[in-house]
Amino acid sequence: MKAFKFHHRSYSNLTMTRSEIARQLIAVCRTLYEKGFVSANDGNVSARLPNGNILTTPTSLNKGRVTENDLVEVTITGSPVGSGSIPSSELGMHLFIYQHRADVNAVVHAHPTYATAFATARIPLDQPLYPEVIFDLGTIPLADFATPSTREVADSIAPFVQSSTAILLTNHGVVAFGKNLDDAYFKMEKVEHAAHITFVARMLGGEKNLTAEQVGKLNAAFSKLRP
Ligand code: 13P
Repeated sequence: MKAFKFHHRSYSNLTMTRSEIARQLIAVCRTLYEKGFVSANDGNVSARLPNGNILTTPTSLNKGRVTENDLVEVTITGSPVGSGSIPSSELGMHLFIYQHRADVNAVVHAHPTYATAFATARIPLDQPLYPEVIFDLGTIPLADFATPSTREVADSIAPFVQSSTAILLTNHGVVAFGKNLDDAYFKMEKVEHAAHITFVARMLGGEKNLTAEQVGKLNAAFSKLRP
């Protein structure tokens, strides 16, 4: 596994140049592929640009090989800006999230093994189990099955888009979103880690939920650390 290559500074997309955002988007793509969160040409990543447009991966390209020239800029309603590659077939899902969440500046869609297995077994990750997941992500719901690349995908996540930042897509994968590319990617990583731990816990006799009181104390303690 190669070293993690992100700029670890916190940023708002609005204070970064298009080129900086493009480079970070490519770093996320490569990490997704290196970690096995996507296979072959699967997955897609996008980010909101300072001009309000969206920069997205093209369709059907291996995420380990994406270059800056491959990225496609579209308006918030999906109209192409200039010429270039065909945007991701899941652009509709990405745009739906940006249109409904002004606080979201990046969206990551992938098919990591354990989380996608939960999505395929149709088991949401919505129980209070892991302090970091509870505080940083909340519950991870399961959206109804939707035919990939169609409008159905946006419709399927509609019930959760305001209340969640990571959603399991039935028999498909995961979508995670956040205030910047690091944030969206780290949410994807946390979902997969939580799914993996839950799977192992089931082999050890089954996971045990935290109580409401324990969750309350946790949120109070973490709120002080990460206001
Ligand atoms: P694109 O290559 O069109 O982005 O689609 C990949 C994918 O994972 C669809 O769900």
